[in-house]
Amino acid sequence: MGPRLQDWKQEINQCASLRDLEDIRIRLLGKSGEITQMLKNLGTLDAGQRREKGAEINQLKEGVRLCLEDRHALLAAQALDDKLAGEAVDVTLSSRPEAVGTLHPLTRTLEEITAYFVNAGFSVAEGSDIEDEEHNFTALNIPEHHPARQSHDTFYLNAPGMLLRTHTSPVQIRTMKATPPPIRILSLGRVYRSDFDATHTPMFHQVEGLVIDQGTHMGHLKSCIIDFLRHYFDIADLPLRFRPSFFPFTEPSAEVDIGCSREGNALKIGTGKDWLEILGCGMVHPKVLLNCGIDPDIYQGFAFGMGLDRITMLKYGLPDIRPFFEGDARWLKHYGFSPYFPAGA
Ligand code: PHE
Repeated sequence: MGPRLQDWKQEINQCASLRDLEDIRIRLLGKSGEITQMLKNLGTLDAGQRREKGAEINQLKEGVRLCLEDRHALLAAQALDDKLAGEAVDVTLSSRPEAVGTLHPLTRTLEEITAYFVNAGFSVAEGSDIEDEEHNFTALNIPEHHPARQSHDTFYLNAPGMLLRTHTSPVQIRTMKATPPPIRILSLGRVYRSDFDATHTPMFHQVEGLVIDQGTHMGHLKSCIIDFLRHYFDIADLPLRFRPSFFPFTEPSAEVDIGCSREGNALKIGTGKDWLEILGCGMVHPKVLLNCGIDPDIYQGFAFGMGLDRITMLKYGLPDIRPFFEGDARWLKHYGFSPYFPAGA
């Protein structure tokens, strides 16, 4: 009987599936299984042999049963492991791996600039796209019939005095009227002017900064802008110049140029003898402060504004603004950024 049990045990231990194991169990212990049959055959023996043989077969049966039980536990555990592994969900994977969405270069720039200025203590102020003449022009010291009103190519709405804002500067007015100084805000958003070519679209984006405090002077304005532009273009010695200019709402006013070279069609920022205009800025005009109920004898401030689309185009070498707003998935796939590596991270 011994060798027989060995053979069966070996067969059981080599069995690789629960189904095959069940077949073995039926073949040995089932109603007409081999061992069951052996027990049935005991009846043909005489009493003495029956007792001896009976004990032997029962021992065999018990050995097989235990061996089957162990193997069953092992195979069942393995089957469960396989099942769990097969059903495992990798939560770090995209739920839509087929989706190849990207962040628009403008979104990237917006996030990057916001992160930079928030780090420098600015908070983000929001305005609305629909404005009135009072906030877009008058309070900014752009009187009626002033040529600046025409030069902005304003989209007027049917409602009297209402328009699509031509710059983000009305957010300065709304903030100064609503918040007592000190003020440090950044405002980013859509602006509108009737213009359309490779570098102008009727809707584009500006970023505006405003600082109002006591003792604020041109030096603060200069260091704020120099540090930002060197950071943004990632060129530590980016050449810059402040060129006197005019804006009705700042005095003195300046336009800032950065050093570049133009060879053929290639524009290179940071080297060369040419200059590229990048933003407008100045000390907030005392009249503007007064218009907002701030005493210019106590508070001074500076403001700057620039085109978000323009500085995005310059940084990434994009020659044409129009595709920014065409929603062409191929353009976005090529020029967009992975959302998994946010700006400023
Ligand atoms: N609002 C100006 C423009 O649209 C830019 C600017 C903002 C200039 C703030 C000076 C200060 O051109």
